[in-house]
Amino acid sequence: MTLTMDHYCVLGNPVAHSKSPTIHARFAELTGQALNYGRQLAPLDGFTATLLAWIAGGGRGCNVTVPFKFEAFRLAGTASERATLAQAANTLKFSGAGMIEADNTDGVGLVNDIQLNAGISLAGRDILLLGAGGAAAGVLGPLLAAGPRRLVVTNRTHAKALDLVARHDSHPSLRTLLQKTELLAQEQQGLEVDFDVIVNATASSLGGGEAVPVSARVLKPGALAYDMMYGAAAQRFGDWALAHGAVPRDGLGMLVEQAAESFAFWRGVRPPSAQVLQEMREANA
Ligand code: ATR
Repeated sequence: MTLTMDHYCVLGNPVAHSKSPTIHARFAELTGQALNYGRQLAPLDGFTATLLAWIAGGGRGCNVTVPFKFEAFRLAGTASERATLAQAANTLKFSGAGMIEADNTDGVGLVNDIQLNAGISLAGRDILLLGAGGAAAGVLGPLLAAGPRRLVVTNRTHAKALDLVARHDSHPSLRTLLQKTELLAQEQQGLEVDFDVIVNATASSLGGGEAVPVSARVLKPGALAYDMMYGAAAQRFGDWALAHGAVPRDGLGMLVEQAAESFAFWRGVRPPSAQVLQEMREANA
């Protein structure tokens, strides 16, 4: 019997260093799913053409990465609630009828890594989200769904934090959740102190400027300081957290967990993500 392979890819610019092909190949192996997963580089002005060519070639789905997550959401015919809240999609699924379905698994990937892999429950906690760009928008809804006591968004450009909070505040699907969580945008100068969890969703560590755009007073002793980047890009934020008595964690687990959620969306099978994360940490050690 020959197995027909289903084709998936990560589509972005750049994609050369993406770890997604390694993660999905291991998921496929561990779950016995017949699929292959590659990389597709799209020109910055050629996302739609590249995607449509990929679908025409028989692709079943793809992950979408920087800088195309917003375009991916706009192009899709249907979108999950979490993709709609984020206004961005990192996962697309194609049906034979030419329909494109969008999902955003970034936020649930972050929450699962914190709660399941790091073992820290977010219910009743005070969370500070740094940033109000695409990365922050992708995780705000799932962070709220975890039931924190307070969730504060702060950003260099305050107007963007206000917009992001207002969009979530007025969304009917979050009304019940927001009865138990206080959601607000605060300017960096006037920030409260003593958060249990800080999530860095800014691109500040990529630039040459200061590593962390807030004062260390925001960290409760022993707080979790989570950078959505991983590897070298998360180093400075991690060093800052350690130097101020917090516990750093990089975004490798988020990457694996968002991949697991995408895999489940495509295949209806949940891969053993904790095992794959452990293997990747051991391989990098
Ligand atoms: P992404 O999709 O990765 O979130 P983005 O939409 O360009 O990319 O958003 C980048 C985020 O990092 C924004 O919140 C940005 O702040 P502004 O909205 O003020 O631009 C933040 N950011 C980038 N460089 C920063 C720096 N050096 N200090 C503080 N915040 C920074």
